[in-house]
Amino acid sequence: MLEALNPQPQDKILQLIAMFREDDRAEKIDLGVGVYKDATGLTPVMRAVKAAEKKLWETETTKTYTGLAGEPAYAAALTGLILGEGHSARAAAIATPGGTGAIRQALELIRLARPGAKIWLSNPTWPNHPSIVKYLGMPLAEYRYFDVATSGIDFAGLIEDLNNVPEGDVVLLHGCCHNPTGANLSPAQWDEVIAVLRARGAVPLVDLAYQGFGDGLEADAEATRKVAAAFPEALIAASCSKNFGIYRERTGILIALGTPERKAVVQGNLNFLNRQNYSFPPDHGARLVTMILEDAALRADWQAELEEVRLNMLNLRRQLAEELRKATNSDRFDFVADHRGMFSRLGLTEAQVVRLREDHAVYMVGDSRINIAGLNARTVPVLARAIAAVL
Ligand code: LMR
Repeated sequence: MLEALNPQPQDKILQLIAMFREDDRAEKIDLGVGVYKDATGLTPVMRAVKAAEKKLWETETTKTYTGLAGEPAYAAALTGLILGEGHSARAAAIATPGGTGAIRQALELIRLARPGAKIWLSNPTWPNHPSIVKYLGMPLAEYRYFDVATSGIDFAGLIEDLNNVPEGDVVLLHGCCHNPTGANLSPAQWDEVIAVLRARGAVPLVDLAYQGFGDGLEADAEATRKVAAAFPEALIAASCSKNFGIYRERTGILIALGTPERKAVVQGNLNFLNRQNYSFPPDHGARLVTMILEDAALRADWQAELEEVRLNMLNLRRQLAEELRKATNSDRFDFVADHRGMFSRLGLTEAQVVRLREDHAVYMVGDSRINIAGLNARTVPVLARAIAAVL
C-alpha cells in the first residue's frame, strides 16, 4: 500500500524554516514563517499566559474530556472578543486545533451544507487556503486583490470579480492584516465589498488570524463585525496563535452565524465534524484564553503586552521604509509603512529572493513576503542594503 504514495509538494513557508536552520552563517535573517519575535529573536510566552498557566496548574482538578464543541465559556469569551456582544442567539461555535483547524472545519461544513459551492480566494492568499480547498476536492475560484504596481489593493479588479460570484458561493475574506500582502481594505472599501456580496447572495467566510496585530484589537475586528451584522449567514475562522502567542497550543474557533431557529442544528453539525475529525478539541490553550479574557487584571495585562507587540511591528515598518528610502534613493518601498500586520509583500522577483538568500542570508517566502517581526533595529538597515543590492 505505502509504495503507492507519491511525494507531496513541500509547503513553501515551512520549507524555509528548515533551510534557515541549516544555514550556518552567523548574520542570517529569518523573515519567513509568521511567528512574532522580540528584538532578541525570541518568541516570548506572554505574561498573562504564564500567569494563567500557573493558576491553572494550581486549580485544575481533572483532565477528563471537554465537550465536543470545547468549553462553552471559551466560545462565549472568544466570540465576545471577536464580535462584541449580542450574537449569542445566532452563533454556533466549536473550538478547533488552531486557525487552520477552523478553516478546515468551515470548509467541511460548507461541503456538508452545499456540496458544489465554489470557494473564492483572494489572489494572492495564504498558500494553505487553496491547498486545503483542493485537498477536500472543492471547486475554487480567485478574485483579484493585490495591485503589484502600487503594492496596494486592486479595488476595481476586486469589485469586478466579486460582481461575478454566483449566488450561494463562499467568499473567503481576510478579516485584517492580509496574508501575504499586508495590504488591507479601508472601512469604506469593506462597506462596498459587503454591499456587492450581499447583492450577489454570497456567503462570507472570514479568516481572522491576526486580531490585534494591525490597528488594534477593536479596529482589527471592525470588518468582521460589519460582516456579521450585514449577512444572514457568515462563517468566522479565528486563531489565538498570534495574538496570545500560543502557536503550539493549537487554539482556534469556528463561529457559524445563522438564524436563532437553525442554531441547534448548525451546532449539532459542528459537533459532528469535530467528532469525525478528532473527537474532542484541544483544551489547554482554549482554557488559558478563557481565563485571560474572564479576568480583568489578566486581560488588561494581555492587552497591554499585545499592544507593545503591535507598536513594535509598526515601528519596524516605519524604520524599514525609511532605510529603504535611503538605500534605494527612491520612494518605491514607502508602502511598507502603510501596510498592516505581520507581513508585507515587497514586490521582488523570485530570482531576487533567491539572491537575497544565497548572497545575503536573508530568508523570505518566494513571493517576497517578509515577516516584519523577524526584524530588529540592527537588522533593518542590513536588510535595506541587501534589497538595494539585488534590485
Ligand atoms: C504564516 O503564514 O507564516 C503563518 O500563518 C504560519 C503558517 O502556518 O503558515
